[in-house]
Amino acid sequence: MVNPSVQRLGSSIDVPSVQSLAASIANPAHVPPRYVRPEAKADPVASDGESELPVIDFSRLLHHRFSREESTKLHHACADWGFFQLINHGVPDDAMEKMKADIVEFFKLPLEEKKAFAQLPNSLEGYGQAFVVSDDQKLDWADMLYLITRPHQSRNIDLWPAQPLTFRDSLSCYSMELKSVAATLLELIAKNLGIAPEEFSTIFQDQPQGVRINYYPPCPRADEVLGLSPHTDGSGLTLLLQVNHVEGLHIKKGGNWFPVKPLPGALIANIGDIIEILSNGVYKSVEHRTIINAKEERLSIAAFHGPREDSMIGPLAEIVKGCESKYVSINYGEFIKAYFSVKLDGRRLMDSLKL
Ligand code: OGA
Ligand code: NI
Repeated sequence: MVNPSVQRLGSSIDVPSVQSLAASIANPAHVPPRYVRPEAKADPVASDGESELPVIDFSRLLHHRFSREESTKLHHACADWGFFQLINHGVPDDAMEKMKADIVEFFKLPLEEKKAFAQLPNSLEGYGQAFVVSDDQKLDWADMLYLITRPHQSRNIDLWPAQPLTFRDSLSCYSMELKSVAATLLELIAKNLGIAPEEFSTIFQDQPQGVRINYYPPCPRADEVLGLSPHTDGSGLTLLLQVNHVEGLHIKKGGNWFPVKPLPGALIANIGDIIEILSNGVYKSVEHRTIINAKEERLSIAAFHGPREDSMIGPLAEIVKGCESKYVSINYGEFIKAYFSVKLDGRRLMDSLKL
């Protein structure tokens, strides 16, 4: 049940009623005009091996003997890339494998069964699509299942799939594991930025977390569609797990799209808009998008770790010091409402918050 005293992310947002992609596409070989994206093949993509996404070893971060070297690496990854691969993160294989298997099973269910967990009017939680704000905008070649996982009292368990039977347990467990990893990373990020730990722990108190499970069906005309439009994440820190071997995440670097090749078992971490603002732009919330595979489906699970709904987000005084604040301060509830009420469009919202 929804706890009415808790404001939920994605609630009270005006969204036109949208059908899932699965419901609107009868034959994937015939791409309806709303899904055709000329930029999908027009924008330059960096070739293999041009540069490598930084790899951060979580166990080294935790280990005193190595911590300084690895922390410096983490700092550069956040400042120069805004993205990194996290290895040896300690999330048990079992928790990841169960989550992956249940996600794959859920998306295999007949449409009618998935629709039992469909988004309700004016909410983004559940099965469907997000960021659809008008009847004539272009659409992404993807379906999603978005669920609020933390704090516990914000869970709307009716929208958590009851099939497969283990889904709810798998997600609870996965959510808890990822929350711990995110909490440690946030602590280390605060340290690297020279912020008092209490400051971050107040902003990220109770560690709100939302999970967006992305399902990208194959499309024979893959180079004409996009899985997820270019965007930055409205979170503090995102941890993404690619579910199968199919790649498709691109990040913007030096004007090019740069394909990410996840290492086995790694989590892809990225800085979200909130940390960019708090750090006064020292850390970057980098634009990214996903592309579609012609033959195989792709799935991913993004865990977004955000601040408390009522926190004020603005450049932190310790970071700004004598320099200029580069962003306006905004209440997080207001920010997220603005984030979800426009279509995904690169850095447009972030640019509007710049001073
Ligand atoms: C997201 C996202 C990337 C992917 O869900 O915000 O950027 O690889 N996903 O699915
Ligand atoms: Ni994203």
